[in-house]
Amino acid sequence: MERWLRDGAFEGETHIVTGAGQGIGLCVATALAAHGAQVAVIDLDAGRVAEVRDEIKAQGAVEPLAVAANVTEEADVVRAVGTVMEASGCINGLVNVAGITRDARITKKTLDDFKAVVAVHLHGTFLFTREVANQHWHPLFKANGNQRLDDGVNRCIMNFSSVSARNGNIGQVDYTAAKGAIEAVTRTTAREFSGYGARVNAIAPGPVDTPMLAQVPEEGRRAFERMTLVGRIAQPEEIAATICAISDPKLFGFTTGQVFAANGGMYLD
Ligand SMILES: NC(=O)c1ccc[n+]([C@@H]2O[C@H](COP(=O)([O-])OP(=O)(O)OC[C@H]3O[C@@H](n4cnc5c(N)ncnc54)[C@H](O)[C@@H]3O)[C@@H](O)[C@H]2O)c1
Repeated sequence: MERWLRDGAFEGETHIVTGAGQGIGLCVATALAAHGAQVAVIDLDAGRVAEVRDEIKAQGAVEPLAVAANVTEEADVVRAVGTVMEASGCINGLVNVAGITRDARITKKTLDDFKAVVAVHLHGTFLFTREVANQHWHPLFKANGNQRLDDGVNRCIMNFSSVSARNGNIGQVDYTAAKGAIEAVTRTTAREFSGYGARVNAIAPGPVDTPMLAQVPEEGRRAFERMTLVGRIAQPEEIAATICAISDPKLFGFTTGQVFAANGGMYLD
């Protein structure tokens, strides 16, 4: 497994990754595991999460936890976080990757599709965030006399926005609404969770070579390449490397409430 950080950067830690069945989530789970984390692989299909667990374990990592859950279902999320707590007793990181697209222009967009897209991205991010806090970080804070946790333990959340939140994207009124909201949610969560000693950030990738992008016609993908300054689409491993770096408190311990643009220069701040 490829490593970019110091050896064992996340040794002894447990990190939850939603949407880890394929694409960016799979790469994030693999990369965190390569740096010593026990990862909890969350996705819709029980068979798929078990396969990912076995693939990561076969690479010499700590055996991942495989938990099938729909991020939009409150009961699933409560159960999934409970399962991770029971198995590991600790949650250090949460990476909210799960996502879908149902692209159609506004005039053709159904309310059901709009709601479904918002639910996976926004409700899923909220539900996992709340449960990690309710089942682990908030009780620690209370046990500390409601004083800021300053115990040197890594606690971090990475949310997923998209370049489309800033740039807009035809056909994605639902997706861009959810992603813009996730950026706002990231800032509020960073403020609320500072007492837990937790850092909360988001990444806003440009086009990444995954099954999600494969749904865009070839011509559209070429257009995305031309819109970047680097002249290409990202590989999911590059996004995973960025997530690993930001999750490492030795590298990004002073950074919270931020949105990181990883978009090849599609827009310039
Ligand atoms: N690929 C890109 O170009 C791109 C660009 C910017 C942002 N993003 C964001 O990155 C994230 C990952 O995208 P990707 O390209 O890897 O997508 P993908 O479609 O390849 O993978 C998404 C994963 O999420 C899972 N998922 C979907 N709905 C779920 C649900 N309700 N509960 C649990 N799991 C669910 C899917 O089963 C799948 O395994 C998404 O949030 C996406 O919006 C992607």
